[in-house]
Amino acid sequence: MPPGVKVRCSERSSGSAPADLLLSRPFCKILNINNLSNAMKVTVVGAGNVGATCADACARWELANEVVLLDIKEGFAEGKSLDIWQTAPISLFDSRITGSTNDYSKTANSDVVVITSGLPRKPGMSRDDLIATNAAIVKSVTENVVKHSPNAIIIVVSNPLDVMTYCAFLTSKFPANRVFGMAGILDTARYRAFLATELNVSPKDIQAVLMGGHGDTMVPLPRYTTVGGIPVTELIAEDKLNAIVERTKKGGGEIVNLLGTSAWYAPGTAAAQMVEAIVRDQKRVFPCCVWLQGEYGLKDVYMGAPVILGRNGVERIIELKLTKEEQELCNASAKAVKEVMDVLDKMNNVPA
Ligand SMILES: NC(=O)c1ccc[n+]([C@@H]2O[C@H](COP(=O)([O-])OP(=O)(O)OC[C@H]3O[C@@H](n4cnc5c(N)ncnc54)[C@H](O)[C@@H]3O)[C@@H](O)[C@H]2O)c1
Repeated sequence: MPPGVKVRCSERSSGSAPADLLLSRPFCKILNINNLSNAMKVTVVGAGNVGATCADACARWELANEVVLLDIKEGFAEGKSLDIWQTAPISLFDSRITGSTNDYSKTANSDVVVITSGLPRKPGMSRDDLIATNAAIVKSVTENVVKHSPNAIIIVVSNPLDVMTYCAFLTSKFPANRVFGMAGILDTARYRAFLATELNVSPKDIQAVLMGGHGDTMVPLPRYTTVGGIPVTELIAEDKLNAIVERTKKGGGEIVNLLGTSAWYAPGTAAAQMVEAIVRDQKRVFPCCVWLQGEYGLKDVYMGAPVILGRNGVERIIELKLTKEEQELCNASAKAVKEVMDVLDKMNNVPA
C-alpha cells in the first residue's frame, strides 16, 4: 500500500481517489483491515430471529472484538452464539461471539447495544398492539444496559419501534444522540429492492430516503430517489412508482402474512449496518428513528429522519426542504406516533 493512503471498508467498493481508498468488505477481509479505532464490544439483547441475524452480521463483518448475545430464555443465546461462532472457520472472522442467559455482567462496558427483545407481530396485528408487553421488556432491558454499560449507544429494534425507542430514551436518560431506532434503513431497503426488481437494475445503484414513523404513515420521498444518479421518475411510470411506494408501506405486513411472524434477515442486517456506521465512525447518511427537537417543525417526538451516523451516534439530523404535501404527511405521521407515545406516558404516569 503506498504511504499516506487511507483505506476504509464499506459494503461497496468505489473508484475513489487514491488518497482514500474505499474497499469492499471481502477485500478488507483479505487485507485484514477492519477500521476499528479501538477494541469494540457490541451486545445484542434478544437472541430471536432479528437479534441472532444482527449478531451474526456483527461477528461476520468483524464489527467488534467481542459480540455478546443475551436472551431471557435459558440457554437460547448460548446456543445461537455457539452456532454462529462455529461459522467463523468457514466465513473467516475472528470476532468472539458469546451468549448469556440474562446475565448482564457479561455485557459490561459495551460500546453499542442493540435491543431486539420483545414479541414480534402475528398476522392481523398492528405494531402498536405490542406496546404493553414490549414496553415492559424494553424498560427492564434498558435499566440493565444503563447499569452495566453506562456509556453505550443504544439502537432499538423492538416494535412499535418509534415508541419503544422513546421508552429506552426515557428509561436510560441518555442523551438523544445515543438512543435511536432502526426502521428507515429497513423501509428504504424494501423500497430499493422492489425498485430493483421492477427496473431490473442492481439494488446497489438505488439511493433513497424516507421519513416518518415506522408503519403505514411512513413518508417515502420519491423525488429524492435516484438510480445511478438518475431521478427514478425518469425511469418508471408514476402509477408503477406509486404502487411500489404503497407496497413498501405495507412491506412488513406482507412478510408477516407469508411467514406468520415478522421479518428478520433484512431487519437484523439493517441494525448491523447501523452498528457498523458507529464502530467504524463512517459518518453514513441513513434514515433513523430520532428524537426531533424542532427539526421539520416537530418537537418531542421520535420519528424517522435522515441523519449522519458516526462514533458519537446521531451526529447530525439532516433537514431536507420538504414540499407542503410532504410536510403534511410528516405532520400526520408525527401525530400518529405521538398518540402511541401518549399511551406509553400514561402507562408510566408521565404528566402531559
Ligand atoms: N424495527 C423494525 O423494523 C423491526 C423489524 C422486524 C422486527 N421488529 C421487532 O423486533 C422484535 C424481535 O423480533 P423477532 O422476530 O426477533 O422476535 P423473536 O420472538 O424471534 O425474538 C425475540 C426474543 O426476545 C427475547 N426476550 C423476550 N423478553 C426478553 C427480555 N426481557 N430480555 C431478553 N430477551 C427477551 C425472547 O426470548 C426471544 O428470543 C419484535 O418486537 C419485532 O416486532 C422490528
